[in-house]
Amino acid sequence: VEVRLPQTPARQTAEPDLSHVWLHAMQMADFEREPLIVTGGEGIRLTTREGRVLTDAVSAAMVTSLGYSNAHVVEAMRDQLDRLAFSPILHGTNEPAVALSSRLCELLPGDLDRVFLVSGGSEATETAMKMARQYHQLTGNPRKVKIVSRYLAYHGATSGALAASGLKDKAGADPMGGRVVRVLPPDSYRCPFGQMGPDECAQASLEAIARTIEYEGRDTVAAVIVDPVMAGAGILVPPRNYYARLREICGDDVLLIFDEVLTGFGRTGEWFAADWYGVVPDIICLGKGISAGYSPLAATVARRHVADAFMRRGGHFQHIHTFGGNPLSARVGLAVIDEFERLELVAHARERGVQLLDGLAAMAERVPYIGDVRGLGMLAGVELVADRDSKRPFKRPPAPLAMRAALRDEDLLVRCSRDVVQLAPPLITTEAELEDILVRTERAIVAACREAADLESGASDLG
Ligand SMILES: Cc1ncc(COP(=O)(O)O)c(C=O)c1O
Repeated sequence: VEVRLPQTPARQTAEPDLSHVWLHAMQMADFEREPLIVTGGEGIRLTTREGRVLTDAVSAAMVTSLGYSNAHVVEAMRDQLDRLAFSPILHGTNEPAVALSSRLCELLPGDLDRVFLVSGGSEATETAMKMARQYHQLTGNPRKVKIVSRYLAYHGATSGALAASGLKDKAGADPMGGRVVRVLPPDSYRCPFGQMGPDECAQASLEAIARTIEYEGRDTVAAVIVDPVMAGAGILVPPRNYYARLREICGDDVLLIFDEVLTGFGRTGEWFAADWYGVVPDIICLGKGISAGYSPLAATVARRHVADAFMRRGGHFQHIHTFGGNPLSARVGLAVIDEFERLELVAHARERGVQLLDGLAAMAERVPYIGDVRGLGMLAGVELVADRDSKRPFKRPPAPLAMRAALRDEDLLVRCSRDVVQLAPPLITTEAELEDILVRTERAIVAACREAADLESGASDLG
């Protein structure tokens, strides 16, 4: 594809007025001290107002799989704007929304074949949970309202999605509605069920889900929602047979919802994590990579028997989002799928994913502060520890320090959660680019861990 280069303005000197700007989940004083304002992008690189060139090793927020200058997607957007910029899917629909729905169902496993288009991941997970509850109402089980989810999961930031998330820090948003029951997650590195190996730990987590459903009363449980690879929890990858077992536990009366907002669209080296795990969930949530960031787009897709309950006379899904299924975003979704197929990006992601995990495993041999390396496809986590043998964490988590060191000293964007540095480069990343990302990441991790170790010894020197 011919790549149209972004018009990178020369270094701008006039100071921007930041007094009206409010960032998401960011301490504004920290931002104002070193404001990061992006002005352009090309391939996997971003340019900033100061003229810096940053390498993006996390696809912005696990989104920009195609990088920042995909000519085909941009051309499709221009063409769509010339035809029709907006038409909601309320009283009717539009051509790109119809075509995208069909394309998605061709890609998805099993009979996941009815698509509800929305604009963001939180909308997709909230939609899925409402859909599950309303499905049970329509099929004569109105008591089935509870949602079972896992601690440390992240399903989105709106109240319902956050209620289903199992993170400790809900940042002042609790208490929230929604009858959600949480169970301990399958964290094979720090198993919450006790000292056991990954398979036993996964088994313990499955038993916890099964028992929770029984103790809550099967007739009160609407669905189990899972993020197949738990990215927010530090890139936890349950063993390959885990979700097939969970599918059995859910049976056909508790809906299994896969939140693939982050794992969908090639991130794990398969189109969907559901493919890798060989499972067909009843409802799947898609977001992020579905538009590769070119426009806000997400989707909640139901299996035939679930959707059929709403299609019967007298039934309809009581749920509206004004911007869902807008033609520009739907057209982007179509162009993204075209590009995935043309570039054979899923296979490429699988190959690069091996390079990524092998590279990190080699890094762990050189860097004693790396306690664990885990991931699937182009999604990897590096857990940093003060002591590898005992898995003792640093008193002050070094992952945020590594994120800062990467940006400040290496012009590299990574993310972190808990003590885990997360890497999820765009799926178009080349072998050489990935090698470069690994080198810079290692330097940032070493610098951050030394800083954390110095802080600790300083603290102990002080008494
Ligand atoms: C697994 C998962 N679900 C849902 C969401 C929420 O998506 P959004 O931020 O687009 O609302 C995220 C976002 O990080 C996510 O990782």
